[in-house]
Amino acid sequence: MTLPDNFLWGGATAANQVEGGILEGGRGLSNIDLLPTGPDRAAISSGMMELLDWDEKHFYPAKEAIDMYHHYKDDIKLFAEMGFKVYRMSISWTRIFPNGDDKEPNQKGLDFYRDIFEELRSYQIEPLVTLAHFDVPVSMIKRFGGWRDRKLVDAYVRYAETVMTAFKGLVKYWLTFNEINILIHSPFVGGGLVFKAGDNKQQLIYQAAHHQLVASSRVTKLAHVIDPDNKIGCMLAGGMHYPYTCRPEDYKQAIDSDRENYFFIDVQARGYYPNYARKMFEREGINLVMADGDLEMLKNTVDFVSFSYYSSRTVSGFEEDYETTTGNLFRSIKNPHLKSTEWGWQIDPLGLRNALNQLYDRYQKPLFIVENGLGAKDIPDENGYVEDDYRIDYMRQHIAAFKDAVEIDGVDLLGYTSWGCIDLISASTGQMSKRYGFIYVDRDDDGVGSFKRSKKKSFAWYKQVIASNGEQL
Ligand code: BG6
Repeated sequence: MTLPDNFLWGGATAANQVEGGILEGGRGLSNIDLLPTGPDRAAISSGMMELLDWDEKHFYPAKEAIDMYHHYKDDIKLFAEMGFKVYRMSISWTRIFPNGDDKEPNQKGLDFYRDIFEELRSYQIEPLVTLAHFDVPVSMIKRFGGWRDRKLVDAYVRYAETVMTAFKGLVKYWLTFNEINILIHSPFVGGGLVFKAGDNKQQLIYQAAHHQLVASSRVTKLAHVIDPDNKIGCMLAGGMHYPYTCRPEDYKQAIDSDRENYFFIDVQARGYYPNYARKMFEREGINLVMADGDLEMLKNTVDFVSFSYYSSRTVSGFEEDYETTTGNLFRSIKNPHLKSTEWGWQIDPLGLRNALNQLYDRYQKPLFIVENGLGAKDIPDENGYVEDDYRIDYMRQHIAAFKDAVEIDGVDLLGYTSWGCIDLISASTGQMSKRYGFIYVDRDDDGVGSFKRSKKKSFAWYKQVIASNGEQL
């Protein structure tokens, strides 16, 4: 058998994309709640347009999402039926501290998550919990400008300490920030940053990054004190860059683009700022404001490296008129050797094996694939059944690729949680129609539908994959 017996198979979601119940149980507003569907979403995500309160003009899909706030027991039952060993989810910071830094935590929020974790444990499902999945309290954005301000560090550490203490013994695997490198590409989503005319964007982004990196290392240190069994991971929006041709300039660009992504993980996994980043800061005139002890604190490195993988990317060292496409908020030159999803994300199963090898060579820490999957338009029959052979095919190829990385290349891989194991709202577009799940949810892009859950063909397929520990694909 290729994979170890304790391999963690499961699925992944994030609070803002599934819970809904945004104003219930004393919850406060979070940045991502304010992202509408439609053309303004991209401008708000990038911090170029300010929208810090709901208005009548837009539709905000996170308000109800798939209403897991009221359906979680049934949903967990379905995950258990598929045989999940692990369920990746996030805690919504503003359910615990509605303003981010309130004097007391919100007991109703703590009760809600305690119930979820106990429910998971009753099925022997291990929770894997992201502390901040695109999640910045709006109150802290209004008062401090998000992660540009150091006050966010203390507030975040206190939030982490509160939940880690409350859920000691129930949760062991934690991720500090989802796709931390998204801060560069989508500063409002990653850090609650909104830019004003004249702002030095690069300076603000890397200052916010420094704050998140310090916060992450403080939480890593604290987690081990709270419970020595805790395992802390960083989380990268993964997928390496290929050079468009074998011209040395193209290869150089691939190295540079990879470094832009790995910058965060280099600090979290190695414990110091890499030289290439120090040089870049000098060149670009970026002056990081640091407190005494920050560099020492960064030495608290993570226990494992987790990442999402949807596609590889292609770059060139030349400014030529290439055809481009997107994938997970990154722009890429269209790779002529790959097919794409309906949203233009390039499908590259071998790229997952390549990414695993590159990360393992670079960090020599256990890896965890915490997101992977196919966003596609599903057409259900009258019972909500979907013949999603395209999804099965995508996943079969990606699972085969990571098995090769383990078996042939010797990569140390802890587990695999496929993204959107139940249909949820899309992070990039806010659409419901971009579906990833094994479980269909009756809800459309305009917020119409009964929230009824039904099993797709891939449900039984994934169940068999897990039962055979990846032998029957
Ligand atoms: C990752 C995020 O970027 O990709 C998820 O961590 C997101 O939140 C997932 O949903 C898929 O992206 P999208 O845009 O298809 O939802």
